Amino acid sequence: MDDLIRNAAEDLCGAKRVTALTGAGASIESGIPPFRGKGGLWEKYDPMEVAHIDSFLQDPVKVWNLLIKDMKDVIDRAKPNDCHKGLVKLEELGKLQTVITQNIDGLHQMAGNTDVIEFHGTFAWQRCMECNTHVETRRVDISTIPPRCDCGGILRPNAVFFGEMIPQEALWRSRQVATDCDVMLVIGTSAVVQPAALMPVVAKESGAKIIEINPESTLLTGDISDYLIKGPAGDVMNRIMANLDALL
Ligand code: OAD
Repeated sequence: MDDLIRNAAEDLCGAKRVTALTGAGASIESGIPPFRGKGGLWEKYDPMEVAHIDSFLQDPVKVWNLLIKDMKDVIDRAKPNDCHKGLVKLEELGKLQTVITQNIDGLHQMAGNTDVIEFHGTFAWQRCMECNTHVETRRVDISTIPPRCDCGGILRPNAVFFGEMIPQEALWRSRQVATDCDVMLVIGTSAVVQPAALMPVVAKESGAKIIEINPESTLLTGDISDYLIKGPAGDVMNRIMANLDALL
């Protein structure tokens, strides 16, 4: 493990353009549960029942009650952890240019990263399904479910449900930064959801080094990633940044 941490620090030291791709694992240490694996949301719920657009359209009350209300509660209280903070330091050092995140919690921006592509949209805003007015999630009154816009339309998260398209701008920019980077840090994603999981493949094909940080191996491990640093993201990022400091 120490060797891999040193490798990562050296790779980052030599890099000119670093991109990070993050998933739910990056926010676990902020108290936000992942989707898959132990304690994951999809252990408790069937994603097709609570996170597919057709389910939401069919029964918004059920999806708000089962999923969205709890997410609001957890995300409202969450604060950036050492993984988010490490990525901010990496940007301040002039190494990290862009974070592509599958997370909708806004923690990378709260920590201070300035270029964050929200691949699956954001939970920070709700939008009216009738008039498309956007309302900040923290201002949404959830005493009645589903919450409604002033026009009477139902509010939904400004995030991507299963069965919906990825925002075109996010997809286009992600492909671009994946193509342009020389190192991609892939942090806390199981890499099973497409097209996000394709970004390390795009980066690899363009010649980038792919460094995975995850306590478990994933579909990328040993094939697309050059190496996996096994461990929780906050701790691993702290150790990499301490090694990088010593090299700069
Ligand atoms: P997953 O829940 O699929 O994967 C979480 C990953 O985090 C797993 O590989 C874990 O091993 C890893 N992990 C666990 N603890 C960790 C820690 N402390 N530090 C680092 N990693 C840790 O989450 P995603 O890959 O983000 O999409 O899931 C992708 C998409 O599936 C989500 O954006 C969401 C979901 O359904 C939509 O809702 C559209």
